[in-house]
Amino acid sequence: MIFAIETSCDETSTAVLSLDGKFLSHIIVNQQNHKKFGGVVPEIASRAHLEILQTIVPQSLDEAKIELNNIELFSATCGPGLIGGLLVGSTMAKSMAIGRNKPFYPINHLEGHLLSPLITNKINFPYLAILLTGGHTQVYLVENIGIYKLLGETVDDAVGESFDKVAKLLGLGYPGGPFIEKIAVLGNEKAFHLPHPLEFEKSLNFSFSGIKTAVSLLVKNQPKINKKIKSDIAATFQSKIIEILIKRTTLAFTILKKKNYKIKDVALVGGVAANKEINESFKKLCNKFNYRFVFPTQEMCGDNAAMIAWACLQRYKKNMKPDINFKANPRWSLGKVVSL
Ligand code: KG4
Ligand code: ZN
Repeated sequence: MIFAIETSCDETSTAVLSLDGKFLSHIIVNQQNHKKFGGVVPEIASRAHLEILQTIVPQSLDEAKIELNNIELFSATCGPGLIGGLLVGSTMAKSMAIGRNKPFYPINHLEGHLLSPLITNKINFPYLAILLTGGHTQVYLVENIGIYKLLGETVDDAVGESFDKVAKLLGLGYPGGPFIEKIAVLGNEKAFHLPHPLEFEKSLNFSFSGIKTAVSLLVKNQPKINKKIKSDIAATFQSKIIEILIKRTTLAFTILKKKNYKIKDVALVGGVAANKEINESFKKLCNKFNYRFVFPTQEMCGDNAAMIAWACLQRYKKNMKPDINFKANPRWSLGKVVSL
């Protein structure tokens, strides 16, 4: 059995996974106490992680119908993320490992997202993964477990972050993505004009901060902000984001074909992958290029401990080493951008 903890942002989550790949329990608690601030307050988050873990650690063992003694491997997200939360989760998992004299696997949160579609899909390596979260927007070639080539990333805001900031400008709730998605269906995506940053750049990098600034000006220049205008702005914004993501991914496909990389599968991962319009647009693009499109279940798009337990299992099966001395690292990266 593997016991995993995820506490890198504002979800507190635990999972128990058997070594033959079956989930015996999975609990995700979305912290509600940040909503009134319109964003995550790190100090509040780490205190909440500590409180919530004390309830859900025993609860997840109960749900799995096992004792702590039955756990063979412990794991926790050790970065990237908010340092307070990372320390709380990793210290708790390490303490349990030390107390039982069992190994501890530090897991990179991004690796958790990258491998998350493998939980419910059979995928061939290497595959292309587009990772869209609140803190990251990256394109990876996933060559194997632990071998990730970063091909491009955002030079400023992450895509989820831009959804959150635009939602705040429109006076919607936090996290912003689901709110924007909900009202975008009611709006006209051609109502306004928004810029396409780095449109003609030939790299696989992204930029989103200019769009947020443009939306902020748009909001300021409206004599009155009513429901209709909000939906039109949300629809225009979401469709611009889709245009940018699709354009970059098309470029990635073209480069892969030109360089003779034989991939079959393309994965969309991270919290933003839960967006139906975005998901549908990727599905269409993959069909056009004859790639199989895969993505995690809705529950495993956002932050969760199941993907952390899963990454731990993959590392264990590959005989990769545990490391109880690994220190939580808020900027733990999977490597620098390389070109193919
Ligand atoms: O992967 P995730 O849960 O946490 C990080 O690792 O950051 O991603 C959270 C991000 C937030 O910015 C949230 O607004 C965005 O994912 N998100 C969405 C949707 N659901 C969550 N963005 C667009 N549409 C959605 N339906
Ligand atoms: Zn995440």
